[in-house]
Amino acid sequence: MVSIRKAKKGFQLRKRAGGSNNTDSNAVQDCMDSVKQRLEDREKAGMVIIGMTLMTMFLLLAILFRSDSQLQKSLDEKTLFSKLRRTKAHPQLQDNKAKKPMKDTMNAVALDIYQVLDCEKFFNETLAEMKGDDEKALKGNDRRLQEVEDEQHGDDNTFDVGGELANENEEEEDAADDKYAGQANRAGLGDGPGDSPMDDDFGGGMGGEVDFDAVAMNARHLFCLAASPDPPAKIVKEIKCDASETKRSTLLKLWSSARAQGMNPDTLKEVLEVTEERIGEIIQSQSYNIWSPRNDDGTQFVINQLNSDRNVDNGGILGLSESLGEGKLFVDVGSCLGLTTLAVTNKYPGTQVVSIEPASPNWLIQEMNLRCNLDDDTFQHKIKVVLAGVGPNDSDEDNMMAKLLWRSSSTTSARAWTPENETADIAESKDIELVVRLRKLKSVLAEAEVYGPHTIDVLNVDCSGCEYNLIPALSEKEFEAIPTIMGGVHWGYIPTSKLPSSERAKLTHQRLCSHENVAHRTKECCAFPDMPVQSSVPGEVLVKDESKSGKDRLQSQSTVMDVVIDGLCDNFDKWAEEHHLYTVPDDWGWFELTSRAAV
Ligand SMILES: *[C@@H]1O[C@H](CO)[C@@H](O)[C@H](O)[C@H]1NC(C)=O
Ligand SMILES: *[C@@H]1O[C@H](CO)[C@@H](O)[C@H](O)[C@H]1NC(C)=O
Ligand SMILES: *[C@@H]1O[C@H](CO)[C@@H](O)[C@H](O)[C@H]1NC(C)=O
Repeated sequence: MVSIRKAKKGFQLRKRAGGSNNTDSNAVQDCMDSVKQRLEDREKAGMVIIGMTLMTMFLLLAILFRSDSQLQKSLDEKTLFSKLRRTKAHPQLQDNKAKKPMKDTMNAVALDIYQVLDCEKFFNETLAEMKGDDEKALKGNDRRLQEVEDEQHGDDNTFDVGGELANENEEEEDAADDKYAGQANRAGLGDGPGDSPMDDDFGGGMGGEVDFDAVAMNARHLFCLAASPDPPAKIVKEIKCDASETKRSTLLKLWSSARAQGMNPDTLKEVLEVTEERIGEIIQSQSYNIWSPRNDDGTQFVINQLNSDRNVDNGGILGLSESLGEGKLFVDVGSCLGLTTLAVTNKYPGTQVVSIEPASPNWLIQEMNLRCNLDDDTFQHKIKVVLAGVGPNDSDEDNMMAKLLWRSSSTTSARAWTPENETADIAESKDIELVVRLRKLKSVLAEAEVYGPHTIDVLNVDCSGCEYNLIPALSEKEFEAIPTIMGGVHWGYIPTSKLPSSERAKLTHQRLCSHENVAHRTKECCAFPDMPVQSSVPGEVLVKDESKSGKDRLQSQSTVMDVVIDGLCDNFDKWAEEHHLYTVPDDWGWFELTSRAAV
């Protein structure tokens, strides 16, 4: 009974869908017509297939009966065609390291560089400039000038102005190199004025002051060399990073990464053009060729800091031999141009490094520094550079945004709170406002494939305020698991309108100040005078002097007050009041999306 009703209902439904009976019969007719048509089509199709088969057989026969010479000719044409195609646009690059042609993927990247950076024109301009300089240098020396002219007449329209001339100049250039390196060394012996990010007026650098005879090369040349099938020898010789040979493939990969991560072509070009190679910079007795924006004060400041013989308790990188080395993990948050990573890698070989930088220009230059100065094996297996900011704790924290101001004259202070009166010259300087993506430290570490079995051995928090995002976002357990923390806090430097909430500050300061090396030189730590501090050497317990030690074990552990620099906490209450340490009610200004702060 039930099943019949169901069937009936189903039938009725179908009928309703088809409309009236009349339409039904039309539909049947249509259907039959279409079946007939299809049968006819099939017959036609059969004929077509037979025809095609016959034609194919005929063609095959024709090919078989072609003479050998004809075949050879067609093969030649094919090779010729592909040769033409490559020569016209851009010939196949050689991977001079692997000693074989570059993969098509990398060749395509090279073409992109060639177009975006307009390399052919750029090389021509540079060579013309260099030629002009050479001629000037040779003026007054008729014999030599005559030689050059002779040579040019025999060698027109080539990139290279001739080996002999290049050789003659070599001596002068080597002398210039020595002068450069010497100056770097002397500057390196000096000492930084402190480790605050506000010491922007320090140094003056050396980039702009060295009076080169030669035309200065920049990072646009570097990438053009990597992308060029026929790099001009005169330019190759001027750049230490071996872009056209051993470093070619790694530089092409870097370009691809920069483009894939959304760096726009104009920014790329702008950044590369202000970035120059500082030859023979000494960091911890190792010589490097460091890329940095010309006139950047930040680079010299960091080099001085790394070269100082300060240990970790005083803002240096010495004294970490128990914390770093093979199997240990160093996480550098706010890693700028990668100089700390270079120094750590050299000083504590085998250390795994995750180097996090939010400002894309810094990230790019850092990648250049690491790729140019480290061997491929170390770079690929020990170091992971991540372009990201570290965000606050929020359910969607991997996609929060922030605005930063990147300043080519001060790479160490890319930050969300650049005081407005410091940006007055924004038009003529190469300052760039960036929108950056904020992520969880955990996500970044996961991407770097070091999370899980690894725990962080040393965390360097030197990120112009991002400590107020990073530190509170860690759970108690995660924070406690990090034995050594370097870096500092920036409350005293952040303009009032951009301060985070006092609550955010309290948690950040309290956690960081429980580390001896931070407490030692951080004014903000004076808010916790009796808080016990832990040593930067893992497992080492800090106890007070005998004279100060109390009755039981707990009291004898050293506190902030025991380790802080003498006098740093004088007048702390007044300082706290002036800097609104306890009175900022919320994070309104901190998260406001602007990179500039009213002062
Ligand atoms: C660069 O110079 C070469 C050789 O003089 C010339 O053939 C070429 O057209 C120039 N290219 C550009 C883009 O100026
Ligand atoms: C910006 O203003 C602050 C506060 O008035 C002042 O301390 C600082 O020196 C000024 N900086 C510059 C570069 O003028
Ligand atoms: C971060 O936020 C999540 C929820 O979004 C919360 O469960 C967690 O406890 C927070 N962690 C900290 C350290 O505040």
